Amino acid sequence: MGVLNLGIDAGNYRAKVAGPYGVDSYRTAICDWFERNIEEDFGEDDMEFAYNGRKGFAGTLASYEDQFGGGAMYGDSKAHDDTLIRTLLAAYRYTKKYCPDRGRFNLVVGQPIVSHKPKEKQKIIDLLQGSHFITINREDFHFYFDQVSVAAEGSGAFWASPKRGQIRIIDIGSGTVNMATLNHAKHINNASATFNYGVETAGGKENIDNIARAVIRSATQLKWRQSDTVFVCGGVASDILPLLAEHFTNIQPIIPQLNSYSGTQIHLPTFANAVGFYELARLTYG
Ligand SMILES: Nc1ncnc2c1ncn2[C@@H]1O[C@H](COP(=O)(O)OP(=O)(O)OP(=O)(O)O)[C@@H](O)[C@H]1O
Ligand SMILES: [Mg+2]
Repeated sequence: MGVLNLGIDAGNYRAKVAGPYGVDSYRTAICDWFERNIEEDFGEDDMEFAYNGRKGFAGTLASYEDQFGGGAMYGDSKAHDDTLIRTLLAAYRYTKKYCPDRGRFNLVVGQPIVSHKPKEKQKIIDLLQGSHFITINREDFHFYFDQVSVAAEGSGAFWASPKRGQIRIIDIGSGTVNMATLNHAKHINNASATFNYGVETAGGKENIDNIARAVIRSATQLKWRQSDTVFVCGGVASDILPLLAEHFTNIQPIIPQLNSYSGTQIHLPTFANAVGFYELARLTYG
């Protein structure tokens, strides 16, 4: 059985996964293990895990516990332990859904533009690469991450639907906003950045107009023009698009096109990074 290529965008709110069978996503909240009196279902993504002496819950169930401490780390570097657990859970869910006999993977994973530096990337590669034993829902798994590459969030979404010329990509996440400029498929660093706010840290979906205003301000700081060709992705892409369109005259969502085993699949803008990462995995690993 060959190695499975996966693109994994393990966000602070949801992990988005793309591979040759299609996509998957789950709530990335993680909390410490506790004795549960009532085995209540919170969501189809509820998981109990044990890894390397650490026990916990993940998924929608954990997102309810999160409110009382622990919680998501809305940071700008994902080179920490939770990233490994989120990635293993992503691989678990993907194989369970589509291909239960697969256990070896080549990955392209994401990192915010701001921490997209050789040292930070190497930390993530060292964290993920190799053999991992994890218990999920009381079943033991052995996953092997063969080759691992790190792509920039926002910028990597380009590969979900490549365009000619100069384009701007705005990836609005739960704790970060990535703004990327590409020229003929090349990332332009001095016109790209990560901003340290997102939907959850700026008051939630109800405050979408504030977030739109902040995004426009950030774009202006980067000297982006109103007439630039702009693409939007992330979990609130379709809600925020009309608000951003009051400023940007040439703006549209990224419509990810996934080259699956069964032909081209069209997915929601929220999967743009994951599909872009998967395309990079296909191009890199074959
Ligand atoms: N399935 C969903 N149902 C309801 N709201 C959602 C859903 N998915 C995303 N959202 C909303 O969109 C926001 C951004 O989601 P997204 O998945 O882009 O964040 P993320 O990639 O996990 O975060 P970050 O990139 O900052 O790590 C969330 O904070 C949430 O408010
Ligand atoms: Mg994100």
